[in-house]
Amino acid sequence: MNYTKCWLEYPRICDETGKTLTAACLLTGTVAWRAVEELRLGLEGLYGLTLETTAEQTADITLDCDPRMHPEGYNIRVYQGRCTIVSGGERGALYGAFALLRQLQMEQCAWEELTWEGKGRPANPMRVLNHWDDLDGSIERGYAGQSFFFRDNEVLVNDRTVAYARLAASVGVNCVVLNNVNVRGAANQLISRRYYEPLREIQKILASYGITMYLCVNFAAPMELGGLDSADPCDDRVLQWWKDKASEVWGSLPGLGGFMVKADSEGQPGPSAYGRTHADGANLLGEAVAPYGGKVIWRCFVYNCQQDWRDTKTDRAKAGYDFFAPLDGKFRDNVVLQIKNGPMDFQVREPVSPLFGGLKHTNMMLEVQVAQEYTGQQRHVCYLIPWFRQVLNQDMHCCEGPSTVADLVSGRSYGNTCCGMAAVANTGDDPNWTGHDLAAANLYGFGRLAYDTTLTGEEIAKEWLRLTFGKTPLVEETLLHILMASWPVYESYTAPLGIGWMVNPNHHYGPNVDGYEYARWGTYHRADHKGLGVDRTSSGTGYCSQYTPELAAEYENLETCPDELALFFHHLDYTYRLKSGKTVLQHIYDTHFDGAEQAAAFLTLVEGLEPLLPQPVYQRLHERFRHQKEHSCEWRDVINTYFFRKSGIPDAQGRTIYP
Ligand code: GCU
Repeated sequence: MNYTKCWLEYPRICDETGKTLTAACLLTGTVAWRAVEELRLGLEGLYGLTLETTAEQTADITLDCDPRMHPEGYNIRVYQGRCTIVSGGERGALYGAFALLRQLQMEQCAWEELTWEGKGRPANPMRVLNHWDDLDGSIERGYAGQSFFFRDNEVLVNDRTVAYARLAASVGVNCVVLNNVNVRGAANQLISRRYYEPLREIQKILASYGITMYLCVNFAAPMELGGLDSADPCDDRVLQWWKDKASEVWGSLPGLGGFMVKADSEGQPGPSAYGRTHADGANLLGEAVAPYGGKVIWRCFVYNCQQDWRDTKTDRAKAGYDFFAPLDGKFRDNVVLQIKNGPMDFQVREPVSPLFGGLKHTNMMLEVQVAQEYTGQQRHVCYLIPWFRQVLNQDMHCCEGPSTVADLVSGRSYGNTCCGMAAVANTGDDPNWTGHDLAAANLYGFGRLAYDTTLTGEEIAKEWLRLTFGKTPLVEETLLHILMASWPVYESYTAPLGIGWMVNPNHHYGPNVDGYEYARWGTYHRADHKGLGVDRTSSGTGYCSQYTPELAAEYENLETCPDELALFFHHLDYTYRLKSGKTVLQHIYDTHFDGAEQAAAFLTLVEGLEPLLPQPVYQRLHERFRHQKEHSCEWRDVINTYFFRKSGIPDAQGRTIYP
């Protein structure tokens, strides 16, 4: 085996070798069987215990079913070596098993010593991992090696598929989209006889861990695959083609969750070519897959990627709302709109997309990116869960009842169930799955947060550390400090005050302040000798008004607009004084000096852990943190010099800024 088990290592807590426990499982089915199997693996690893299954009522561990409970929920009671896990269904039993093993590791006690009552109930109905894996084995925005689902246009099914399914299920992920949203080349044929057989094998493995498989499809598949001369959603031949296709697909892959579509976005085909709306497009597929209980996940990442930088009125941030808010209520019940957390594209800081507040009669899902495309590409440490928590906590003030993003996407606000949270995955076939060992905390954390949106970033980090590194106080304290500081630190030495985008074009790594300034992507900072920022108020692009009145007023008004988003919403002079009391320019200088210093401090801290970490882990961490230290200086100097040259204003503290 050339890969780790991440947080499922189950390292020995105390030795109880020779003892046997019994488990009775009153639920039937492969997922319930996996639950028992996981308990067996866990208890063996943690204690050396043997777990035998029994039909007796007097078992040490009983997995029981209560149909009144949520099918993915569980109640656990453990006392004096006896444990019952009651769940509403098989998935609940599996999540309960993982929760029990987690608790044992958090408490580090002997099996008989654990006294605990725990319960779980998913906040979000759909908890999705999106893999941007291509059939040739590459991964779009992948920073951890090649795909473990595809290679050389073949589908891979092996022990790693099982290992992956365990990792995903252990944190409550219940849907996986296997392939890239940009469907090109051989990926078009995933919905053809060429691939059904191996896909069925993957699907079987995933399903045994309670995970529903989805596939990304090309909106123009009737042309690419079917030889039609059109993909017009209002053309009967096109509808018939999709209906026939769905019948074939579900005939071969029964239980498939449905299709995901990126349409009319960054060159992908879509309904606009025929003068049709996104509702026409999504409903076409929705109708075709409905007889099989299928869903359509339709992405809202739609904007004009042929913009002219000279045009200061068109604002990419407005596009998602402009396209989709007017279509509210027009989508079928089995269609869910997937909305990126911010209106731009996974920057280190953005406001929440106003579209969450603009849809009242439409299923919606939040999309975040744990792949660190703009947050250090898994070479810099950037623990994103505190950021996702902030997104979930944002109140959109859009309805009478609860109206945070968490309420809206979980279905609590409007009572729908086809909704939830999705993350662009950060995995690849690297031995440690995520390139940077600490990036696994994001994968773990996404699942935990999507299942339980009340968990804090810190709680999740503590769990992940304990499960991954065992109980070594200095390791846990040090890495917790680094994880919790990492997102603010990354933000501090990269793009300031919500402006974003100061990266090298295409691969998006490393500083390049003007990299996107004169490009067609709608991503500008508008810096001149006096100031920078994008005026998105009513005197500028008018983006603020897409929010409901409370938020619109907060952002529109400089007095109330939070500092961290100041340049996202306003064009400010370098000498403008922020709420912090610093000028914009001094804020830029200070955060960049400070951020690079903190990145250097991370390296020193990690070096202190050398004797306490397994050598390969230490080596990998050391290499990444050394790079981060150097690269943060590059960021610091490029950004500081750029703004010094533009403004001519020196650093108030006289530190080195290269002229
Ligand atoms: C980003 C990313 C692309 C990706 C796109 C998407 O723009 O850079 O690689 O395809 O997001 O979310 O569809």
